[in-house]
Amino acid sequence: MAHGGQLINRLVDGEERAHLVKQVKSLKSIEIDSWTISDLDLIAIGAFSPLQGFMKEEDYHSVVENMRLSNGTVWSIPITLPVDFQFSKQLHVGEQVALVGEEDKIIYGIIEVESIYSVDHKNEAQKVFKTDDLQHPGVQKLFSRSSVYVGGPVKVLERPKRDKFKDFYFDPINIRKIFEERGWKTIVGFQTRNPVHRAHEYIQKCALETVDALFLNPLVGETKSDDISAEVRMTSYLVLLENYYPKNRVFLGVFPAAMRYAGPREAIFHALIRKNYGCTHFIVGRDHAGVGDYYGTYESQEIFGHFNYEDLGIIPMFFEHSFFCKKCKNMASSKTCPHGQEDHLHLSGTKVRALLRDGQCPPPEFTRPEVARVLIEGLSSSH
Ligand code: ADX
Repeated sequence: MAHGGQLINRLVDGEERAHLVKQVKSLKSIEIDSWTISDLDLIAIGAFSPLQGFMKEEDYHSVVENMRLSNGTVWSIPITLPVDFQFSKQLHVGEQVALVGEEDKIIYGIIEVESIYSVDHKNEAQKVFKTDDLQHPGVQKLFSRSSVYVGGPVKVLERPKRDKFKDFYFDPINIRKIFEERGWKTIVGFQTRNPVHRAHEYIQKCALETVDALFLNPLVGETKSDDISAEVRMTSYLVLLENYYPKNRVFLGVFPAAMRYAGPREAIFHALIRKNYGCTHFIVGRDHAGVGDYYGTYESQEIFGHFNYEDLGIIPMFFEHSFFCKKCKNMASSKTCPHGQEDHLHLSGTKVRALLRDGQCPPPEFTRPEVARVLIEGLSSSH
């Protein structure tokens, strides 16, 4: 079952669409950036079920303060539509407003304005990101937007263009059908914004030992500029799947959302969305959706302790920090390995990137050579 009970669909077609296309031309319009276009699309296809639009004031405050919508349903990240302060004065509750792409001028849809409100960004940052430090990429993004939000249900006319990874876009409704056709009853979702290194592979496969299938669901929306590009990552996933994963138990589909870097709160958000895509389980490893040192290594796991299964409807699978142990000669974690740090292969993200930029493969115990070669090539052609 989708979160909140029903998979939402806010895409309009047929006569309703034709009617709306005519009507929309006479409406005022709000310009939306690529981040908001992606949120709008995810609302439309039900990935953000039970949201039917951008958050109204009551839901916004309830989510920021209590991680629940005003009706009590768990939701951890505000999904909001910022509008220019001056322009917001021309808007009225009850009117319909067109949502137009800032760059491409495409009319993506309309919002029925039910709420126009100003927020305290500092409070939102402290509650959602646990910091108001502008060095934090999520906080930076938040403060770069207007603090006046418009809330209400949306209707969507156009989907964002899919120039890349065309074969890997699936809406929740399609993914659910695919899982059903394959007879998979238990499916574990895996969120990632990185190439799959051996530690990722290890926890995915440990999880797969106990469920029917793995849904590898890399995020391909906006990420911070030093994360490896989605194109290069996708190539690396394909190489890895081809060589090391059972085809009948793994499914690759992209997750076209923006990365918030909200650590614990984003882990809950990621889990709920994967539930909407049809997963029964969700992997949460070390510092899930974290950045820098803003969150404790296991904070993204601990936050699940605030909720029970009835609240979430998806089972989190937690994994300790995993690594290759030279004594065990195996992948392991602090839970399964008796040896000390000195026997564990640890490489920081910065170190790995430096090696790859230099054209050197990290040790095969860290990254499979096939993957490393894709990353080296990707990084060299991006300069
Ligand atoms: S994330 O921002 O999308 O969470 P990343 O792609 O690095 O970043 O991680 C994907 C998932 O793998 C997350 O659940 C994360 O906690 C987990 N993970 C990454 N590296 C490790 C590791 N060495 N040990 C255990 N879990 C890990």
